[in-house]
Amino acid sequence: MIRVGIVGVGNIASMFIQSIHHYRATGSNKGLIHHRIGRYGVRDIDVVYAIDVSKYKVGKELREAIFQPPNQVPKLVDLPPTGITVRMGKVLDGVAEHMVDDFPPSHLPEPSMEELARDLRDSGVDVLVNLLPVGSSKATRFYAEVAAMAGVSFINCIPEFIASEDRYSKLFEERRATLLGDDIKGQLGATIVHRALARLVSMRGGEVIESYQLNVGGNTDFKNMLEQSRLHSKKLSKSLAVASTQPDPYDALNKVFAGPNGFIPFLGNTKVSYIYIKASGFMGLPVTLDVKLTVDDKAMASAILVDAVRLAKVLNDLGIYGAPPWASAPYFKHPPNLVKSDEEALEELYLRLEEYRVEVDPKYVI
Ligand SMILES: NC(=O)c1ccc[n+]([C@@H]2O[C@H](COP(=O)([O-])OP(=O)(O)OC[C@H]3O[C@@H](n4cnc5c(N)ncnc54)[C@H](O)[C@@H]3O)[C@@H](O)[C@H]2O)c1
Repeated sequence: MIRVGIVGVGNIASMFIQSIHHYRATGSNKGLIHHRIGRYGVRDIDVVYAIDVSKYKVGKELREAIFQPPNQVPKLVDLPPTGITVRMGKVLDGVAEHMVDDFPPSHLPEPSMEELARDLRDSGVDVLVNLLPVGSSKATRFYAEVAAMAGVSFINCIPEFIASEDRYSKLFEERRATLLGDDIKGQLGATIVHRALARLVSMRGGEVIESYQLNVGGNTDFKNMLEQSRLHSKKLSKSLAVASTQPDPYDALNKVFAGPNGFIPFLGNTKVSYIYIKASGFMGLPVTLDVKLTVDDKAMASAILVDAVRLAKVLNDLGIYGAPPWASAPYFKHPPNLVKSDEEALEELYLRLEEYRVEVDPKYVI
């Protein structure tokens, strides 16, 4: 089993936990990217620990906490009792001023770093997953250091630069733990679709002249991102993910705009993305591309998370510590090294794992 801890019991946590039980109950592998990574299937994932700060969630049984407001992933499966009570965390900058009614902090005392690290060890957590709101710069660093102190692997799903910073890669290496990140991609989310289209333009001899990706949604993730001061790393992570498909990524960064663009409450967890590319093609003649993508935002992230958790455990089992760039590249928007194509990133992951005789099934590139 892979024993997972979660920081931030929001909508992704709800979808992720329910998805594991869905796959357990149905015995199906439909919709998964990889059925097996090494010896681990999705049914080998077990969430054993959870931290939040909201008074709606802290102190609740995990299977109840995931349905507390403002979470809005519907009840998709019957969850058995988990025996896990959501633990109070450290608020720091996790709760923006305009989000206090959505994430009202509990009055329980906040734990120290040492207490949380001890908790993680006592709960036998293998991998801690960071699902804090965008803009949680201090809180993300705090929990990353908790994981490092406990010698527990860490997956950073949000656009704070942790795995892509040498300092943290070295820290986790010293603590013999694995680090993946930053900013999780979606299974068929706006970033991977936008990247594939931008890459296609340059692969066919064209040039991207300008491009934008506008995203709207109706959950707390989008509401939280109304505060511009929390968005600097989000915009950079998303725009660079697309610009990095181009021959000169930093030059292309001036031509690409990608970010969250609005909170529309009735959309709930549905995310709508509009992708536009103006390119020049043969003889410099113009080509324009407009795509609308509609997805369940939380399912998109959870599909990647069930892979990332298994990959982190496989790497840790092999004694691969710190943040190997090739491990994060297929799954994160801002990995330690920029990659031009997702096929190449996946191919490199397969090749590296083959060197360690780790089987992945199915494989999409040879
Ligand atoms: N497709 C996607 O959904 C996607 C893709 C990439 C990145 N992300 C990022 O993943 C993160 C999680 O997304 P979500 O939709 O589950 O968010 P959410 O808003 O539903 O949940 C955030 C949770 O964090 C809790 N929290 C706030 N401060 C905390 C603290 N200091 N300590 C512990 N818990 C705290 C809140 O109470 C809430 O339960 C967001 O940053 C989001 O932008 C999501």
